[in-house]
Amino acid sequence: MPSSPRIEQLRNRTAPLEMTPDQFRALGHRLIDRIASFLASIPTRPVTPSESPEEVRAALEAARPLPESGQDAAPLLDRASDLIFEHSLLNGHPRFYGYVTSSAAPIGMLADLLAASVNANVGAWKLAPMATEIEAQVVRWLARFVGYPPDCGGLLVSGGNMANFTCFLAARAARAGWDVRKRGVPGGPPLRAYASTETHTWIQKAADLAGLGTDAIRWIPTGPDQRIDLRALEAACREDVEKGYRPFFVAGSAGTVSTGAVDPLPELAAFSKERNLWFHVDGAYGAFASAVPDAPADLAGLRLADSVAVDPHKWLYAPLEAGCALVRNPDALRNAFSYHPPYYSFGQEATNYFDIGPQNSRGFRALKVWLALQQAGAEGYREMIQDDIALARHLYDLALAHPDLEALTHHLSITTVRYVPPDLRASLGSTETGEYLDQLNQRLMEAIEESGEAFVSNAVINGRFALRFCIVNFRASTADIEALPRLIARLGRRVHAELGGRRLARDSVTV
Ligand SMILES: Cc1ncc(COP(=O)(O)O)c(C=O)c1O
Repeated sequence: MPSSPRIEQLRNRTAPLEMTPDQFRALGHRLIDRIASFLASIPTRPVTPSESPEEVRAALEAARPLPESGQDAAPLLDRASDLIFEHSLLNGHPRFYGYVTSSAAPIGMLADLLAASVNANVGAWKLAPMATEIEAQVVRWLARFVGYPPDCGGLLVSGGNMANFTCFLAARAARAGWDVRKRGVPGGPPLRAYASTETHTWIQKAADLAGLGTDAIRWIPTGPDQRIDLRALEAACREDVEKGYRPFFVAGSAGTVSTGAVDPLPELAAFSKERNLWFHVDGAYGAFASAVPDAPADLAGLRLADSVAVDPHKWLYAPLEAGCALVRNPDALRNAFSYHPPYYSFGQEATNYFDIGPQNSRGFRALKVWLALQQAGAEGYREMIQDDIALARHLYDLALAHPDLEALTHHLSITTVRYVPPDLRASLGSTETGEYLDQLNQRLMEAIEESGEAFVSNAVINGRFALRFCIVNFRASTADIEALPRLIARLGRRVHAELGGRRLARDSVTV
């Protein structure tokens, strides 16, 4: 049959996206050289350029329409590198201590490139034989590293939120008491989940997305140590049962997002077991610390949980994104997520990840975790985690000894402090001074960011605004930490002068 000219042309097809091996090699070498120079330059750069959205959009030429014709890859990659290197916050900087965002391990950067070269779809074993087995090995290694049974079920997801959601959905299917996947949450009595007021906001999204609504969360107060109040938990649960609600889920934190506090996990495990509730541990930040010898003893309680969320893109230094859900009973994941449409014919003799998690097509996230775990080894990771904890402790001690700083908390690798000008020390207990200090420290946090000399986020500790230093940063050194009290005091004095606090100090002392 004669074919059309177009079909004839396609005998030697050259698509606009194709590259010859030589082109790819030249572009790749150039890009890797640029990335290597960028990585070397990080300590000399400001932690963040502190630009306005207008400035960033102007650099990007954000209003430019999609080009109609294609362009050479070389200048495109050069421009992309310039834009990204010059207009980004650098969480790989030795003085970045914000949120729980880590510096990325260089081997993870290379792993992402390698993973994309095969572009394995880790939804089904048949589509990604080696990638699936590597992911299964990563799950076993992570479980063993945190002291969880390595024969648990588990899979990699995009991060801490998704790891917690995955566990929440497994819990909902396992403990609702009716076929909640088919009949939905109206199929039985209102479900109730218990978590401390320090729990990360993932639980709101989970309750919302799982159809329970955020009213299903019973927020349990914490003590002055930021840990869940067990008596309040017991009272809330009893009250809910009396009202006809169905408690099904208790969340403990292995390192809260604000201060790194570890809930009494063994007690929460016992409480949940007694009442047949699903016990979940959010270890997105802190679970990996359970591997170090001097970790808080309560962390060991995570091995008793029905599920644990851990987050390699936090303390394992995987480049974003990599979270991991671990579930004691592997069937609980399948029972929560599995459907078998007629258009998939994948054998059941090996894990098909689409069958045990929320995603269908899935990327090869495990590779960067797998490589980094081997590059550092368990021993290397324990050492990096201990170093971060030691530096956070050092900062706390420095703040205790500094006349202008108030050391507030230290748990795991998170330290919170606030700046208190010497002229306000005498009036520390007054409401007016308290409100002023909140304002001063908030502005100070912004001033630190604008200086480019460091980056911190904040916590609210017993109602007080605090500067929060979270050290999940294998590049932070003793010198970096020792520079912080000087920086806070210097910028604190300036902000205090700008805010006119001296006048307030005089006023409040004479009241
Ligand atoms: C304790 C805790 N849980 C959950 C999360 C959410 O993780 P992600 O931002 O990766 O979704 C965080 C993030 O900082 C966290 O600290």
